[in-house]
Amino acid sequence: AQSAKESLYIVSQYAATFFVKQLWETEEGRGIGLSYFKERGFREDILKKFEVGYSPDVWDAMTQSATHAGHKLEFLEATGLSIKNDNGKIYDRFRGRVMFPIHNFTGRIIGFGGRTLKTDKNVPKYVNSPESEIYHKSNVLYGLFHAKKAIRDLDNCYLAEGYADVLSVHQAGVENVVASSGTSLTVEQIKLIGRFTQNITILFDGDAAGIKASLRGLDMILEEGLNVKIVSFPDGHDPDSYMHHVGAGAFRTYLEQNRKDFILYKANVLLKDAGTDPIKRAGIIRDIVESIAKIPDPIKASVFIRESSSLLEIEEHILLSELNKMRSAKL
Ligand code: UTP
Ligand code: MN
Ligand code: MN
Ligand code: MN
Ligand code: MN
Repeated sequence: AQSAKESLYIVSQYAATFFVKQLWETEEGRGIGLSYFKERGFREDILKKFEVGYSPDVWDAMTQSATHAGHKLEFLEATGLSIKNDNGKIYDRFRGRVMFPIHNFTGRIIGFGGRTLKTDKNVPKYVNSPESEIYHKSNVLYGLFHAKKAIRDLDNCYLAEGYADVLSVHQAGVENVVASSGTSLTVEQIKLIGRFTQNITILFDGDAAGIKASLRGLDMILEEGLNVKIVSFPDGHDPDSYMHHVGAGAFRTYLEQNRKDFILYKANVLLKDAGTDPIKRAGIIRDIVESIAKIPDPIKASVFIRESSSLLEIEEHILLSELNKMRSAKL
C-alpha cells in the first residue's frame, strides 16, 4: 500500500489536471478563466508551463470528479481541496477561481492558490491550500521548480510577492524568479534560495505594504549572510503590472538598470519621509547601520560602512563606532 503522503501528492496532481482541463476544454473555463488570463496579457505557453487552471463555479465539481475516479475523500480532505461542513456536506475549497498549482522543488504539486474573478471587496482575492502533510508553507517558494536551473546559471534569484508576478517575469524572458506567496518571507525560504545562489534581488510591490515587506525582507536576507539588492517599481506597480505596462524588452532593461544595493535603497526610502529634519536624518543613519550590523561577515560589513559614509556624508569612524555598539548590544 502506498503511504498517506503519497496519496496526498496523487490527489493534488489529479486536481491540478482537472483544473487545467476545465480551463482549456470547457465553455465556462474558456469563457471566464482563459479569457481572464488573456485580458491580463498572459501568453498561452506561460499558462501551460505553470499548469494554471480553472475551478468551476459550482459546489463540488472537483470532489465529484475525483471520487468518481476512485480517489478517497479522506485524502482530498487532508489536502484541503475538499471540505466537510458542519452538516456533513462536502464541498470544493476552490470554486469559480483561476488556479495556480504550487510545486515543490522536485516538481510535485503540493497545493494551490486560487484567484477570484469577482471585483467584490468582500471576497478574498486569493484562497490558498491550507498546511498539510505535503504542504509546509514556510518552506515553499512558488515557482522554484521552474526557476532553479536559471537561478544557478545566472547566480541570482529574483524574489517577488505573488503568483502573477512569477508568471509575468517569466513571460518577459527572466526565468530566475520565485515568490513567497501566501506567507510573509521566512528564514526557511531564504535558506532554500541559498542552496542555489547567494544573491537575491527583491522585486516587491511598489505600494506601502510592499515597501514595508522589502525592508523586513532585506534585513532577514542579510542576517542569513546572503547578498541582497532591490528593484522597486513606480506608481504602485508590481512586477506583473509593470511588465504588461512597459512590455518585455523594456521590463528586462528596467531590471538591469534599477538594481539598488540595500544601502542606497534604504537611504532613498527613508530620506523621502525625513526631508531635512536633522533628528529624523540621524535616525535613518542608525537604521542603515542596524542593517549592516546584521551582516555576519565583518569584511563585507566594512565595505558597506564605507559606502554609507560617502553616501550619507558622515565620517566612517562614527559609523563604525555605532556599528560596534550595535554588535556588542546583540551579543
Ligand atoms: P497581491 O495583493 O499583491 O496580489 O498579493 P497579486 O499577486 O498582485 O495578485 P493580482 O495581480 O491582483 O492577481 C501578493 C500575494 O499575496 C498572496 C498571494 O500569494 C498573492 O499573489 N495573497 C494575497 C493571498 O494569499 N491572499 C490574498 O487575499 C491576497
Ligand atoms: Mn507538473
Ligand atoms: Mn500587494
Ligand atoms: Mn501584487
Ligand atoms: Mn498583481
